[in-house]
Amino acid sequence: MDKIGIFYGSTTGNTRDVTHKLYEALGKGKAELHDIRETTAADMAAYDRMIFSVSTWGAGDLQDDWEEFFPSLNTIDFSGKTVAIMALGDQHNYPDTFVNCMLLLAEKVTERGGQIVGETSIEGYEFSASTAVRNKRFLGLVIDEDNQANMTTARIHDWIDTIKKVL
Ligand SMILES: Cc1cc2nc3c(=O)[nH]c(=O)nc-3n(C[C@H](O)[C@H](O)[C@H](O)COP(=O)(O)O)c2cc1C
Repeated sequence: MDKIGIFYGSTTGNTRDVTHKLYEALGKGKAELHDIRETTAADMAAYDRMIFSVSTWGAGDLQDDWEEFFPSLNTIDFSGKTVAIMALGDQHNYPDTFVNCMLLLAEKVTERGGQIVGETSIEGYEFSASTAVRNKRFLGLVIDEDNQANMTTARIHDWIDTIKKVL
C-alpha cells in the first residue's frame, strides 16, 4: 500500500494526541491512523511504509497495548518495508530508562528484515541513560509531553522533513 500506516498505543492519551498531530502534519491522504489495540498483524502487513508510535511504561517497557501486540510482529515479514518510530517518555522522572521501549520495536523490525529510518539528534534532551541511543543519536523521534510539550510541534515538523526523504 502506498500510504503510510501509522500505529499508536497510548495509556493516558499523550501518544494518541501527539500521533494525531503527526498525522495532520503529514498532510491529507498521506497516511492512515491505527490504534494498535485494534490492529491485526494482517492490517499492519498491508503497509510497506509505517510509523510506530509508542509510550514508555514500567522501567523502559512498551506501553501495554504495544506489549500485547508485540508477539504478532514475529508473524510479519518486514523485508522491503521501512519503519520510523516515535517514542514518548519523561526525561526528568525516568532519566535512566528514557524511551528505552524504542529499541525493542527497532530491534524486532530489523530482526524481521525491515529497515528503521528517521533517527534524530539527542541535543535538547537531558537524561542519564537510554537504550534508544546509537552513535549519539536517537533511533527515531523522541517526544516528552511531561516536560517539553512546547517543543512537540516543531519536533514533529522537523522529523517529517527528515522522514519524507527516507520513508
Ligand atoms: C508509571 C510510569 C512509568 C513510566 N516509565 C517511563 C520510563 O521508564 N521511561 C520514560 O522515558 N518514560 C516513562 N514514563 C513516562 C510516560 O512514557 C509519559 O508520561 C508518556 O507521555 C505517556 O504517554 P501515554 O499517555 O500515551 O501512555 C512513565 C510514566 C509512568 C506514569
